Amino acid sequence: MPSENIYKLDTPSLLLNLHTLEKNVDHIVRFAASHGVNYRPHIKTHKSIDIAKMQMDKGAVGVTVATVGEAEVMTRGGIPNILIAYPIATETKLSRVEALMTQATIILTVDSIEQASLIDRYFKDKHVQVNVWMKVNSGLNRCGVEAEEAVELATHIQTLASLSLQGIFTHAGHSYAATSQEEIEEIAKKEAEAVLTSSELCEKAGISITHKSVGSTPTYQISGAIEGITEVRPGNAIFFDMVQVGLGVAHVEDCALTVLSTVGSVKKDRIVIDAGSKTLHLDKGAHGNESVMGHGYIKEYPHLTLERLSEEHGVIPLKDEIPELRVTDKMTIIPNHACTVVNAFDTYTVHRNGEVIGVWDVHARGRND
Ligand SMILES: Cc1ncc(COP(=O)(O)O)c(C=O)c1O
Repeated sequence: MPSENIYKLDTPSLLLNLHTLEKNVDHIVRFAASHGVNYRPHIKTHKSIDIAKMQMDKGAVGVTVATVGEAEVMTRGGIPNILIAYPIATETKLSRVEALMTQATIILTVDSIEQASLIDRYFKDKHVQVNVWMKVNSGLNRCGVEAEEAVELATHIQTLASLSLQGIFTHAGHSYAATSQEEIEEIAKKEAEAVLTSSELCEKAGISITHKSVGSTPTYQISGAIEGITEVRPGNAIFFDMVQVGLGVAHVEDCALTVLSTVGSVKKDRIVIDAGSKTLHLDKGAHGNESVMGHGYIKEYPHLTLERLSEEHGVIPLKDEIPELRVTDKMTIIPNHACTVVNAFDTYTVHRNGEVIGVWDVHARGRND
C-alpha cells in the first residue's frame, strides 16, 4: 500500500485533493479573465461554503444553485449573489427566497408566463423588485423557452411590476451525450446561439438584456469564448470525474475527488470492497452518457474493473489475474459522477497529494429542497 497518510483513514471516505482543486479553479478563472466573461460556478457539484468562498476569492461574481435549500446554505456562508437556476413554482419556496433577499442578491429563473405571473403575484404587495433571468432551451429539452418565444415571455415580464428582467441563460447538458469533440463544439455553438439570438430579439423589441450566460463543463470553453456571451457557469470542472475523462474533457490526473475504500473480502474470482452504490452511486453520467467502464476508476489498480455495486459492497471480478490484493488493502476510486457522490458524504477529507490537511463539511448535503 502506498505510504501517503490518506491510506490510514477509515473507509469509505471522500477525499479531495486541494492541489488539483485549486489548479482546476484557477484554470476556469484564467479562462474567464482572458475572455472577459464572468464566472458564476454551479455549486451543486461541491455543496460546500469553503469551496464557494475559494471560488469567490479567486474572482467568481456569485454562484449558481439548483435549489432554494442550496441558496439558503450559500447565503448563510456569506455568498452575496446567487442565481437559482430552476423555475420556482410554489409560494412556500418563494417565501423562503423572500427571507434570503435581505441578505444576498437572489436571481430567480423564469421559463413560462404562468410561472413568471406566480412570482409576481407573490411579491406584488411586498414592494420588492425581484431580479429574474429567463431560461432558454438550447437542445437539452428540459426547462427553457425556445429562442423565438423569448420576446413573448420577456414582454410579459415587462408588464409585471415586481419583476426585473436582467439576463438570459441556458444549460447545454445534452453535451454529456456527445460522442466526439466535434459534437461538443456543435452543441456549444448552438448553446451560445440560443442565448445570443433570444437576447437580440428582446433587444430589438426594446428590452435590454445585461447578462448572457452559458456553460456546462464540456462546453463552456467554446460557448464562453463566443463574442457577446458575458458569463460562464461550469460546475463539475472543479473536480472532474470519469464521465469527463470519457468525454475527453479531462485526464485522470485532473480529477480532484476520490473515494477511499478497503478490501473486505478476497475470493478466487473476485474482490469485495466497502464502497457500494450508497457511496459511488450507480449513476454513469448525465443525459445519456455512455463513455464510462464500471463504477469508477481504481487509481492504484487501473487494470481492475469495479463491475458490480450493491448498497455497501463493490465487486471487482478477477478474470485470469492472481489476486494481488489482500483483506485490509486500500484503494482510491475516481467516481463516474462527482456531483452525486459528494451528496452521499457529510465531509471531505482534504489532502495535498496524499497528505491530509483538514476536514471540510459538505454543507448543502441533501439540500434538494
Ligand atoms: C443551469 C445549470 N448551469 C450550470 C450547470 C453546470 O454544469 P456542469 O456541471 O456540466 O459544469 C448545470 C448543471 O446541471 C445547470 O443545470
